[in-house]
Amino acid sequence: MSRGFRYFISFAVIFGMIVGAVACKKKIEAARSAEDPIRIGEFLSLTGATATFGISTRNGVELAVEEINAGGGVLGRKLKTIVLDDQGKPEEAATAVTKLINEDRVDVLIGEVASSLSLAAAPIAQAKGVPMISPSSTNPKVTAVGDHIFRICFIDPFQGAVMAQFASMTLKAKRAALLRDIRNDYSIGLADFFVEKFKKLGGEVAIDQSYSAGDVDFKAQLTAIKATKPDVIFVPGYYTEVGLVARQARELGITVPLLGGDGWASEKLTEIGGIAIAGSFFSDHCSMSDPNPVLQSFVKKYEAKFGSKPDALAALGYDSAMLVVDALKRADSLDKSAIRKALAETRDYQGITGLITMDAERNAVKSAVVMKVTADGNHEYVTTVQPN
Ligand code: PHE
Repeated sequence: MSRGFRYFISFAVIFGMIVGAVACKKKIEAARSAEDPIRIGEFLSLTGATATFGISTRNGVELAVEEINAGGGVLGRKLKTIVLDDQGKPEEAATAVTKLINEDRVDVLIGEVASSLSLAAAPIAQAKGVPMISPSSTNPKVTAVGDHIFRICFIDPFQGAVMAQFASMTLKAKRAALLRDIRNDYSIGLADFFVEKFKKLGGEVAIDQSYSAGDVDFKAQLTAIKATKPDVIFVPGYYTEVGLVARQARELGITVPLLGGDGWASEKLTEIGGIAIAGSFFSDHCSMSDPNPVLQSFVKKYEAKFGSKPDALAALGYDSAMLVVDALKRADSLDKSAIRKALAETRDYQGITGLITMDAERNAVKSAVVMKVTADGNHEYVTTVQPN
């Protein structure tokens, strides 16, 4: 082969590759016609022991998406949600996010509720450059995964301090017992943050016990706790186990209030705990009895559509989707880095759960509410605590 011919062949091959690549890109762009919707991928627990977390969040997102689409969509396109059930399992959350990114080619991700699941999914979203918004994961490590990971809720150092302060100053508790879920990043972190603040306020930790998500018998731990005569028991777990803990605590003759965090926020809490959980307190993201008219209009729309009362997760789901729309408008583009940048630049966005401003760590700084479980199973608003 002459040298000239070899050059010609190389040139032809390279030219062919370029033409191919350009055609391929054109095809992808062409596939994204004006009618092609903006895809929001959701990965949530729709089944399993935390099913109400995923169902409420999905319903909230759905309401927002319906409203936006009824008004003509955003950037000339409709919104489309692709919702995958991760069953509340970290490995399923990772699988779901991989599928949403690789197969459904979503523009943005909403999920997860539980911190352990967000932590399993976030490294994938970060590596693939897809912005991910957790409506409600409160463990600090979640957004620390990288610059594509956001949340629209407060974090657990604040939530733990809110409940420690409530225990110490409002309930005048001196001795607290702890019962944490050691298979749950959220529970472990929140217990630690509670202890830190409770001790600062002069409180004493009487005993620190643990269980694993899925356990149904807490009698051994509760018997040990009872012997230390605490003033309160802090149980920063999810509603299924907390409901059972409450029942067994009362059966053992423990009468002091149980305290917890947002993981209690489910109508199932009293279904499981019954009267045993009445008189206990937990921190949450917002109260549905807040007279704020935008929140009340959401409550009405939610009840009309789903036939049940929304919880804080539904409201956070709604805010997550609405913030995506706001960021898309500001980005004026479907480019993921532009969407990421717009999300990072969120300042004073008026959500139904409060004002949302992303700090440098991509966390929202927001107030918390303390709620009381009443004898009729309702969650009654007690007080609001502002972030410092
Ligand atoms: N904050 C919890 C977590 O990080 C999840 C949660 C939020 C549960 C709000 C209920 C309500 O795991």
